[in-house]
Amino acid sequence: MDKNYYITTPIYYPSAKPHMGHAYSSIIADFFARFKKIDGYKVYFLTGTDEHGLKIQRAAEKKNLDTLKFCDEISKTFKDLTKTLNLTNTDFIRTTENRHKQSVQHLWNELKKNDEIYLSKYSGWYSVSDEAFYNNDEIEEIDNKKIAISSKSPVEWVDEESYFFRLSKWEKPLLDFYEKNPDFISPNSRKNEVISFVKNGLKDLSVSRKSFSWGIKVPNDDHHIIYVWLDALTNYISALNYPDTNNELYKNFWPASLHLIGKDILRFHAVYWPAFLLAAKIELPKKVYGHGWILSNQEKMSKSKGNILDPLEIIDQYGLDPLRYYLIKEVSFGNDGNISQERLEDCINSDLANNYGNLCQRVTAFAIKNCQSKIPEKIEFNKDDLSILDKFSNNLENIRLNIDNQNINFYIDFIVNSLFEANKYFNDQEPWKKKEDPIRLNTIVYTTLEIVRKISFMLYPIIPASSIKALKIFDLKEKDIEFNSIGNNNFLKKGNLINKIDILFNKIDKND
Ligand code: MSP
Repeated sequence: MDKNYYITTPIYYPSAKPHMGHAYSSIIADFFARFKKIDGYKVYFLTGTDEHGLKIQRAAEKKNLDTLKFCDEISKTFKDLTKTLNLTNTDFIRTTENRHKQSVQHLWNELKKNDEIYLSKYSGWYSVSDEAFYNNDEIEEIDNKKIAISSKSPVEWVDEESYFFRLSKWEKPLLDFYEKNPDFISPNSRKNEVISFVKNGLKDLSVSRKSFSWGIKVPNDDHHIIYVWLDALTNYISALNYPDTNNELYKNFWPASLHLIGKDILRFHAVYWPAFLLAAKIELPKKVYGHGWILSNQEKMSKSKGNILDPLEIIDQYGLDPLRYYLIKEVSFGNDGNISQERLEDCINSDLANNYGNLCQRVTAFAIKNCQSKIPEKIEFNKDDLSILDKFSNNLENIRLNIDNQNINFYIDFIVNSLFEANKYFNDQEPWKKKEDPIRLNTIVYTTLEIVRKISFMLYPIIPASSIKALKIFDLKEKDIEFNSIGNNNFLKKGNLINKIDILFNKIDKND
């Protein structure tokens, strides 16, 4: 079985500092990376910044800064965010790095060699904010201003010499590919829009610009700058040292297991990127997943709308794990989701403090008092115990399958239900009334501790620091977390000492 897993986030434009939408993509990618890691995979997790193009050049000009200096500054805030979000990314790529430029120019040469690129002239609409070309029927006029219908971004007319990529030629091969690989574009709900876009007919794509200088030069034609999306998409292979396809990274990790992106950039990843790769005779990634948007006051966050939620402020106020938990649980994965501070506080109080934190505290306090601070030794499971314990082993494959279908909602529901059942089990079994029957008392404590252990393992991809903190109860370390072992009902070493731990989550006083 292929035990390598390569996951990527979009590389972010360093035109302004990161917001909650960026944090969301990264946290979700980290969730998958951590899950695969504890499931025994070798994981390569890539993120970074997309630094070329007119959008960035203009943003730097506005600040009167040298473009590279401007990129250095903002790219650093994205890099710092990977630490703040506790991401396990293995690499952080910047498209201004030499390793990347060389890859892009090599890919260009391959396309040229295969006669996939020709020189002509582009006349049409361009949105600098989206870095995208639009047809007439994709444009509307509002208040005398032309904007792209899909993104509402302003467009400008471009009339200049340009190299073109023979995208039209790949219409049929792409449709065949989608048919043979029905999971390539996910979720399913977004697949049809891509397929109908391709079926409507693909026109050759302008892949160079002459009117500005901030980007990677076309080999042997210094006046042209390579289209920023051709440049940016290549990051997924330049980070693996493409064109050196014989090196370990490339051999182990290409094709990528999952390009995780926002739905706004699906066309680039599900149409242009596979077409470039087909044309260059490079294997295609296994899957592109377009997640929904984080909305603030029911609208997509953007600088111009002034509704940006700053992840750093939220983390300062509530801590990182509550934010990670909240985004993963409350935004139904695949759909748009509105977020609010009020719901975040509810989540902290009910799920984290009451359901999880309280369960950990209750059972450890009880065991310290009634089992000599030790994991009970003499136990005999009955069917009540096994029915709650076996749920994990019975669902091992099911959970894996759901993760491979990016069904995060299933994963989190499984945890929330298990927490609810564990609390109910402890209440219903009333171990405090079993002091005359030590084997029964021991078994209830052992069963509940096992469940705390299993749930903490499962929570690791979502709230890693808190899960590690909870596992201190058993002296377990990060390296001990293995997904497979949630199927084991006798994982905890009988007779080992139980440690008291600090409160995991403080409740928020909503009257403050
Ligand atoms: N640079 C391109 C991506 C190139 S990938 C080869 C880009 N950058 S971006 O910074 O504008 O946005 C990157 C991603 O951030 C989006 O695709 C999406 O994943 C995420 N989000 C940005 N705003 C978002 C929300 N409001 N909600 C959720 N995610 C959104 O596009």
